Amino acid sequence: MQKTVAIYPGSFDPITNGHLDIIQRGAKLFDEVIVAVLVNSEKAPLFTSEERVGMIRAILKEHGLAVRVDTFGGLLVTYAQKQKAQVIVRGIRAVSDYEYELQMALMNRRLEPRIETVFMMPSEAYSYLSSRLVREVFKLGGSVEGLVPPLVEKALRAKIKT
Ligand code: PNS
Repeated sequence: MQKTVAIYPGSFDPITNGHLDIIQRGAKLFDEVIVAVLVNSEKAPLFTSEERVGMIRAILKEHGLAVRVDTFGGLLVTYAQKQKAQVIVRGIRAVSDYEYELQMALMNRRLEPRIETVFMMPSEAYSYLSSRLVREVFKLGGSVEGLVPPLVEKALRAKIKT
C-alpha cells in the first residue's frame, strides 16, 4: 500500500508549542510528515530559515519525533508534488483562521486537485497562540514560558537582548 506523506508548511518564526502539538498529532495520522519552512517570504523574519530549521530539528529530536524538516520556496503545491505528498496539514485555532485557510486550501486544490488539505486543531491551551504574538510579547518583556519550547525561549533571548 502506498504510504501517506503529509506536508506541514509554515513560517515557523519561531515554532511554538501549538505547532509542536499539530506535528505530534500529524505524526500519529500519517506515515510521513515533512515540516516545510517557507523561505523567501516577503515578510522579514526574526529568525533566518537556517535558524528556524535548526531549532525545529532539535526540538523534534528532543521529543523523539521522526519527522523530516525541510525548506521550500515558490508554490507550496509544487513542493508537495516534488515530495510526492498527498496531504497538506494546516492547524486551525479559531473560526477567525478559517476564512484565510479555506481560501488557501481551495486555491491549492485548484492548482493541484490530487492534494488534500487537512485541518487539524491544536489543544485548546494553544488556541490563542501565534508566532507573531510570541515575538511581540517577548520583545516587550513578557513571558512566553509554556508557549514555546525552552530552546526557542533561549533563542529569543539571544536574538532580542532584553
Ligand atoms: O505559517 P504561515 O505564515 O501561516 O504559513 C503560510 C504558508 C507558508 C503555508 C503559505 O504562505 C504558503 O503556502 N506559501 C507558499 C506560496 C504559495 O503556495 N502560495 C499560494 C497559497 S494558496
